[in-house]
Amino acid sequence: MKTIRFGIIGCGLMGREFASAAARWMHLLDMQANPKIVAVSDVNPKAMEWFDAPFSTTDYRELLARDEIDAVYVAVPHNLHQEIYTATIQAGKHLFAEKPFGIDRAAALAIQNTITANPEVLVRCSSEFPFFPGAQRVVQMVESDAFGKILEVRAGFCHSSDMDPTKPINWKRQVATCGEYGCMGDLGLHVLHLPLRFGFKPTNVRAFLSKIVDQRPDGKGGMAPCETWDNAILACESSAGFPMILETKRISPGDTDSWYINIYGTKNSVEFSTKNPKTLRTMPFTQGEPQSWREESLGYTTAYPTITGHIFEFGFSDAILQMWASFVDEVAGNDPKFRCATPAEALASHDLFTAALESHRTAQVVIVP
Ligand SMILES: NC(=O)c1ccc[n+]([C@@H]2O[C@H](COP(=O)([O-])OP(=O)(O)OC[C@H]3O[C@@H](n4cnc5c(N)ncnc54)[C@H](O)[C@@H]3O)[C@@H](O)[C@H]2O)c1
Repeated sequence: MKTIRFGIIGCGLMGREFASAAARWMHLLDMQANPKIVAVSDVNPKAMEWFDAPFSTTDYRELLARDEIDAVYVAVPHNLHQEIYTATIQAGKHLFAEKPFGIDRAAALAIQNTITANPEVLVRCSSEFPFFPGAQRVVQMVESDAFGKILEVRAGFCHSSDMDPTKPINWKRQVATCGEYGCMGDLGLHVLHLPLRFGFKPTNVRAFLSKIVDQRPDGKGGMAPCETWDNAILACESSAGFPMILETKRISPGDTDSWYINIYGTKNSVEFSTKNPKTLRTMPFTQGEPQSWREESLGYTTAYPTITGHIFEFGFSDAILQMWASFVDEVAGNDPKFRCATPAEALASHDLFTAALESHRTAQVVIVP
């Protein structure tokens, strides 16, 4: 077993998810490599205590200077992506980077240029939902050309964590730290990962962006403005000619955290949502036969095999573990069973979000470069 020694920069929500996945690596079967967290960095010393790592520092540059670190996971606010991602790559460390991979398109391009100048470093971007068994079945259906002529793709990521207007403001609701994209930057790569992997690139977009809650408690007794977009609906034409409706929503009544992809075709159609993670809906079309949707009860059939019996349930932390298995496998020099989102896919998502901002501003259809 090869050990990949990791540093974590950003010990918040997602930093902990990785540490948890690394701690239950024994859940995976037949892995040729495992991660070991040897250092953490956060500007908030309290955030690092939970990790109990051999080395900790409030200055991420001290972490990057350490020879024993092979790879780094960076999970920090979006305004810091460009600076810390480029520093990590220039330090010669493999990088697992959180989305949106730069606060805006210029930042994403600067990160991409640094990757091009350092081809020995492996860089992948976080997007865990395509590792759900239902999403993997959609991948298999696309690979086996199951749909005939594709009529339409609908994909989205909708949650309701901002439904409560008394929820205090945080960095994700402010342009300086989250970026002008708002909900698109937060949720959009999750939505685009599979369509882009399938070669369904948006070529133009008409965007409808909404700001719903315009101020929130600032935690000091006052109110602060919410500057970022809460919800986005993007009506796109794909490079394959069919329409794609992509949505990212922070205020979606009834959705705690629903990622979905639906593909409709002349021979077969599929609907999968993490809202009903055990259910894959398909509708094969046979001339003269009734058009009826089939519901298949999915089990725990994963890209990377695990100890869990195949009839059991799969959830968010399982998807995180699968995504990390793919990255660690690739860092170890193997061809991953399903590849994590790539920098090229992240950059393509920026192309779309930048065009979407212009489309909303001008109320026009905008070409995606
Ligand atoms: N893949 C997913 O499902 C998913 C879910 C949520 C967030 N994210 C992404 O993860 C990233 C982090 O989001 P989060 O929810 O974990 O945020 P968070 O606020 O919970 O954590 C961010 C951490 O970064 C630290 N930090 C800030 N500046 C720093 C610096 N200069 N050096 C080191 N640490 C610093 C903060 O103190 C904080 O502990 C974002 O890019 C976000 O979009 C991904």
